[in-house]
Amino acid sequence: MRINQNLLKLIEILADGQFHSGEELATYFDITRAGINKYIKVLREWGLVLSSIQGKGYCLASKLDLLNEVKIKQYYQSDNRIEILPIIDSTNQYLLDRIDSLKSGDCCVAEFQTQARGRRGRQWFAPFGSNLYFSMYWRLEQGIAAAMGLSLVVGIVVADILRELSGQDIKVKWPNDLYLQDKKLAGILVESASKTGDCAHVIIGIGVNLMMTQPDTNIVNQKWINLGEVDRNLLVAKIAQILKVKLLEFEQKGLAPFIKDWSRLDNFANRPVKLLIGNDIIRGIAKGINEQGALLLEQEGKIKAYIGGEISLRSDE
Ligand code: BTN
Repeated sequence: MRINQNLLKLIEILADGQFHSGEELATYFDITRAGINKYIKVLREWGLVLSSIQGKGYCLASKLDLLNEVKIKQYYQSDNRIEILPIIDSTNQYLLDRIDSLKSGDCCVAEFQTQARGRRGRQWFAPFGSNLYFSMYWRLEQGIAAAMGLSLVVGIVVADILRELSGQDIKVKWPNDLYLQDKKLAGILVESASKTGDCAHVIIGIGVNLMMTQPDTNIVNQKWINLGEVDRNLLVAKIAQILKVKLLEFEQKGLAPFIKDWSRLDNFANRPVKLLIGNDIIRGIAKGINEQGALLLEQEGKIKAYIGGEISLRSDE
């Protein structure tokens, strides 16, 4: 455990983006230069991009804006838990493991995930400090059938927050991605815990690319893009705050009030797309969503609705 504390302290020191000599660091931690080399090796394994120059020392490729509880609370005073986890297997798993003690709107955020999950059993690349890894618990009174609509609302909320903070033209892609310049900017993974009674217990996981460099191409295998520099603590506060408000609205009114937001943000509206459903490919023109959250596809002049977690949408241009 202690070694992790030292590694986190080392990241804090290097977060300023300046050079720090091996000697200075060895003195600080009261270990040998070889010990510092070992620490640096671990930081690289955590996905941090560090240069080392003889005579100057070690330096991060870019400054880090570390997550900070005090700053988050300055932006948003909440009666929900917002836990900061420096290192965790998966923020979704962390909440799933604690589901009995959570109330709707409780969330956690991590600097680094060792086993981050994407949709359909895929991995999610989650290097230290450079992106956003956020999860929120929600008790869905309408039951699991409403989870599709809920995940679309999450996309709308996060897209609008990122638009406001960055001024960029961020879009939604059915069902669970955010796009910028036709490239993947963020992914949403909604997972449910085992059912008790009629309501569903869901964990909403959000991963946003912010300042990622050198992603593992075995994991990141589609066109991707970073948002760029934003105040990550403000971003966490805004998502925690606004998502809760909008999910309460969704609980009361369903997806209907959000359809026009989806149309406003829809990356593929009126564009040719193909749906991959198992081995089948279905082609058509994307025409938005209906009140169940199904994708509407125009084929030979008729509109047909498609819904289900196993459908992937791709551009067909
Ligand atoms: C996707 O495949 O597009 C969804 C990616 C979701 C990644 C986020 S990061 C925070 C949360 N914790 C996880 O393990 N996954 C989600």
